Parts: sequence; structure tokens; C-alpha cells
Amino acid sequence: DWVMGDYISEAVESIRKQVGDEEVILGLSGGVDSSVAAALIHRAIGDQLTCVFVDHGLLRLNEGDMVMEMFARNLGVKVIRVDAKEKFMSELAGVADPEAKRKIIGKEFVEIFQSESGKIENAKWLAQGTIYPDVIESAGKGKKGAHMIKSHHNVGGLPEDMHLKLLEPLRELFKDEVRELGVALGLPREMVYRHPFPGPGLGVRILGEVKEEFASLLQRADAIFIEELRNTIDEVSQKSWYDLTSQAFAVFLPVKAVGVMGDGRTYEYVVALRAVQTQDFMTAHWAHLPHELLGKVSNRIINEVRGINRVVYDISGKPPATIEWE
Ligand code: XMP
Repeated sequence: DWVMGDYISEAVESIRKQVGDEEVILGLSGGVDSSVAAALIHRAIGDQLTCVFVDHGLLRLNEGDMVMEMFARNLGVKVIRVDAKEKFMSELAGVADPEAKRKIIGKEFVEIFQSESGKIENAKWLAQGTIYPDVIESAGKGKKGAHMIKSHHNVGGLPEDMHLKLLEPLRELFKDEVRELGVALGLPREMVYRHPFPGPGLGVRILGEVKEEFASLLQRADAIFIEELRNTIDEVSQKSWYDLTSQAFAVFLPVKAVGVMGDGRTYEYVVALRAVQTQDFMTAHWAHLPHELLGKVSNRIINEVRGINRVVYDISGKPPATIEWE
């Protein structure tokens, strides 16, 4: 609409004025905020923006290719894709503690981002998808810290010794405004209205030690769950179950259970499905998904993902459980 159009031209002008002829780098995560920031800044300064996309191997199925397709191919944004799967896997080997895993992932991410962006000549600006709620949250950090249950550091936090000026064009916007802006800038609706995804990714959805084999099983199970949620429309609201839930995903449990397939006995891993409804993610209810939907997802995962022979549904609220399992 015209209001959003006005907003875009004002923002574009102000970004051009700030940046001048200098170069900008941005850590693209595939999340809504960094994606919308990238699209907006690209609209303003085109090739003066370079995005760095670090693939830690713990993203959703085909996420890396999707990000490249959307930004590099469709929008013509300069994106450097860093395939750091091996490095992350080797750093995570043997580590089972959730907070230790978060720390390793965050630290690796910052190091890789820093070294990649160090190669970009004349970069004077670091762009971030900081939105208004982030600004408020970090202002009240002292108080909140005492109650913090998980370290929640978002990969992509500012490395302070990078000596770059900060460019944060979404600082005044709320999440729903960021989404509207994204659509107006030409990002696909289904991308802009995606469920949140934690920075450490599947690293906190594979319980205990992270292994490549587990990540691959989990990616495929999760993709089936999400596909069925998107394809199942609730008759009353005429919305998909994906849109009726705030966050939904699969969790890999590194335990083996006995099953039977054909004439044979199987002994394979278990996957848990988690779907919640919430306003603020501080408290949440488990979603009352239709049993037919759950049944279909379970059948498909067990039939299509060799290595998983049992699927369970998480019926815990937050509190006392958290949304993620780690
Ligand atoms: P919990 O599990 O604490 O999750 O109930 C609340 C929301 O935060 C997300 N989450 C994270 N996001 N880094 C992130 O960027 C993290 O380490 C992290 N841990 C949890 C979670 O997905 C949910 O949306």
C-alpha cells in the first residue's frame, strides 16, 4: 500500500545518506529480520551490500539453497555462502551439554563471520536486523539476566572488535511491520511469515551430542512435519495448521526403540514432534493438532525416513517445559 511505499522510499533515502559510497556487510541467517534488512538495504545501495551466509550444517532441510535462490538469484543480492559444516561438526564432537553447545556454535559463528567479512574490501558498515523489541530488551538486560534460563545468544551478535559502524534500518519497527515491509520488498509471503528458528538451529534440537547422521534424519523428519502442517487446513478458520501454530518442529531423541517392519524387527531412533501456540514465547500451550494430522505425519516419517521407527507428540506446556528441548 502507499503507506508502506512511503516508508520504503524514506528508509532508502536515509540509508543512502548514511552510507554514502562505503561498503556494507550483513550476516544473513535466513531468518525474517536479517532477510528483510538485506532486502531493504539492497534496494537502497545495491552492490555496495555484501551478505555473508554461514551454513553451520544445522539448518532446516534445503535452507541453504533456499537462501541462495531467494537472495542471490531472485533479488540479485551479493551473498557469500560459507559452508562451515565440517568445522562446526568437529568443534561439537563429544559435547553433550546444551549450554556448552550454544557457546561453541555462537563462538564459531562469530569467528567465521569475522574472518569472511575481513576479506571484503573497504567494508565500513555492519548491518543488522535489529528490531524495536530487541532494542527494548537489551536496554533492560540487567534485570532479565537473573531469570534467564537459556543463554539465547543469537548467532550473528556484533563482534565488538570489528571496528565497523552499525547500520540498523529496522530499529523502529515491530515484528508485524517488518513482515509487511518484507512482502512489500518482494520477499515471498511464506518466507516472511515463517515460525522463528533458533540461532543454534538443529544443534539444540538434537539432544546431547550432535552428529551429522542425526542432523540428516532430523532435517527430513522436520520437513515432513512442516509440509503436512502447511497442507492441512482447519475447516473452521480456513487457516493452515502451520499458521495456527506459533512454532512447530521435530526433535531428535538419541535413544533406540524396537519396532517391526515386514517380517523383520527394527531397532531405530525416536523423533518427537513439538507444536505450540503462544503470544510472546514466554509461556506457551501445546497445540491440539488433529489426530489425523499427527497420524499422517507419523506414518510418513516412519516410512520415508529410514532410521526412525517411532514418533511421539510433546504435550508439555511452558512452563514447566520450555519450547525447545534444550
Ligand atoms: P524456549 O525454549 O526458551 O524458547 O522456551 C523460547 C523461544 O526462543 C527460541 N530460542 C532461541 N533463539 N537462540 C535463539 O536465537 C537460542 O539459543 C534459543 N533458544 C531458544 C525458541 O526457538 C523459542 O522461539
